[in-house]
Amino acid sequence: MSTSDKTSIGVIGIGYVGLVTGTCLAELGNNVVCMDIDAEKIEALREGQIPIYEPELPELILKNRDRMTFTTSLADIFDRCEIFFIAVDTPPTFTGDADLSRVFAVMSELPGLSNKHHVLVMKSTVPVGTGLKISSELARQEMANIDYVSNPEFLREGSAIHDFLNPDRIVIGSRDPGIGEKVAALYRNMKAPILKTNIPTAEMIKYASNAFLATKISFINEIANVCEEVGADVCVVADGMGHDRRIGKHFLNAGIGFGGSCFPKDVTALKQIAGNSGYHFQLLTAVIEVNELQKRRVVNKLQKHLGTLADKTIALLGLAFKPNTSDLREASSIVLASRLLGDGALVKAYDPVAIPYAAKAVRGILLCDNILSVVKDSDAVVLVTEWDEFADLPLEEMKKVMRRPLIIDGRNFLDPRKVRAAGFTYEGIGRV
Ligand code: UDX
Repeated sequence: MSTSDKTSIGVIGIGYVGLVTGTCLAELGNNVVCMDIDAEKIEALREGQIPIYEPELPELILKNRDRMTFTTSLADIFDRCEIFFIAVDTPPTFTGDADLSRVFAVMSELPGLSNKHHVLVMKSTVPVGTGLKISSELARQEMANIDYVSNPEFLREGSAIHDFLNPDRIVIGSRDPGIGEKVAALYRNMKAPILKTNIPTAEMIKYASNAFLATKISFINEIANVCEEVGADVCVVADGMGHDRRIGKHFLNAGIGFGGSCFPKDVTALKQIAGNSGYHFQLLTAVIEVNELQKRRVVNKLQKHLGTLADKTIALLGLAFKPNTSDLREASSIVLASRLLGDGALVKAYDPVAIPYAAKAVRGILLCDNILSVVKDSDAVVLVTEWDEFADLPLEEMKKVMRRPLIIDGRNFLDPRKVRAAGFTYEGIGRV
């Protein structure tokens, strides 16, 4: 099928969000031109290799391969596509503000005023106000043929395809409702409500949503810490709270903190956005601090059982920031491993998919390729990521090869009765 007809959609920046967006737009029946400056990545995609681990993604790319083309040329996008999405990274700078250099690199290459109309759709998370600045800039730079739409993405890693195709809502921020309508039409077959707003409101919906979810996690983590002091069980408490429909049952799993490429970055960025405009967002400051302390709480638990950690061997089950992804960005495992190494422990780790990326993320840990080899000769096991593979641990065999039968369950994932019945000392987070 030709990709040069005017219905092609462009996606610039083929990272997590970009590749999933491009693939799902193809699945919805569009021809999609995917562009990235990383020539190696584009070549690999052309050869059918998928650069990230995401369930269902390889199958969906294969299914839609006739509708997807991969390029390193921005000109290809402007030639072929009226509507193009920007999905480049906006990592945090040292101040906590979002780094927009990749967005501006794309902006600097936009074609000047021509008789072709384009719609630039921002998928990347950009600080509130950025869209208005960009759209004013477009008008000033005599690129009035390019309209701007904000269309934030809410997908989660590990369930990205499902989330993109079954969103809770679609948010479209634009100056001109007619232009917003063009982007809304791409989602017309989805059942989700489409919220049409102005540009800053769309940008704020994204930040406020992530910040609220992160707040929910830090809140339940603090409740868990108090539960430990008073003999309550946070899992039962969360269940009891979740029955109240005003609270809801999601995002109340206590554990060793949130990580990933979005929450830490976006919560900090929103705090900065507020700060830059003169407002001190106290609640978010606490959310961030609670999360940082939460990542370290396991160390105290280990010390309680083992005394000094110098020369102790600690086995980590899981490294990824959550299951079903190989992503280690801001993973709690990295802070935990570094703290343990700092205290003189030998740290071993096993993760079903993240091992190939782990050596780069944290130096000095011994990487293993299965559960029994990681727990062998260890003084304690810490469950860091709730992978399915860890739901039914081979407890009998583990006990035989470990130095001490101690399990710290950083995600409250295991059944304490079962673990204790196998002869282990078990500690969760805020659990009796
Ligand atoms: C998040 C948002 O959910 C998504 O809408 C946005 O587009 C990107 O950021 P993601 O980072 O992929 O998605 O994963 P998510 O499932 O939200 O988990 C984030 C972190 O929170 C993980 O480290 C997870 O372990 C932690 N978490 C989540 C908890 O500790 N407790 C919970 O109850 C839920």
